[in-house]
Amino acid sequence: MTKKMKVASIVAMGKNRVIGLDNQMMWHIPSEFNHYRGLLGDHYFVIGRKNYDGSHHKLNMEKALVLTRNCDYECESSIFYSPQEAIEFARDRGETELFVLGGEEIYRTFMPLIDTLYLSIVDIDQPGDAYFPPHENYSWHKKRHFKVPKNSNEETPIDWEFFELEKN
Ligand SMILES: NC(=O)c1ccc[n+]([C@@H]2O[C@H](COP(=O)([O-])OP(=O)(O)OC[C@H]3O[C@@H](n4cnc5c(N)ncnc54)[C@H](OP(=O)(O)O)[C@@H]3O)[C@@H](O)[C@H]2O)c1
Repeated sequence: MTKKMKVASIVAMGKNRVIGLDNQMMWHIPSEFNHYRGLLGDHYFVIGRKNYDGSHHKLNMEKALVLTRNCDYECESSIFYSPQEAIEFARDRGETELFVLGGEEIYRTFMPLIDTLYLSIVDIDQPGDAYFPPHENYSWHKKRHFKVPKNSNEETPIDWEFFELEKN
């Protein structure tokens, strides 16, 4: 029997749930980003067209499943016109854990499907124009939690903490 593919989401949000401004991240925290990359590994990931266009592509873009509604859109990664198409593509390739990397619209769309949420909370509460949707509308249990205090080297310029939450 084939194993069910899990759907996971990774996000870093401020204390006010902010995740971005002008289609960019609002902080640079190498320790958080390295942790994020470690979790993502070599899994397939779903990414919104805006996030894809705004990011600096520090990830393995061969594994990016880019969502757009624009049939004329072109990029070097695989393009999909609906969430279901992207999910099926990953499942057909034997993926065990598909990652949802945002942005806001993509997180909102996939929230009902998320099994595991890898959530970093960054000690920032400045306003932005993209926010993480309310995951508290679902019931979760905490599998992991740790805090990373800021330090004097450049790895952690801002306090952040991490939660691994599994949907009940
Ligand atoms: N802090 C974090 O962890 C984090 C992570 C990721 C992103 N972000 C931030 O989030 C912001 C971007 O979020 P966003 O909400 O503006 O954009 P987004 O979610 O990245 O992309 C939205 C676009 O995805 C496509 N799309 C959305 N739903 C679709 C569907 N059901 N079917 C087909 N295509 C669909 C559409 O593309 P078309 O317009 O081409 O049709 C839509 O305009 C940026 O500021 C970014 O930095 C932060």
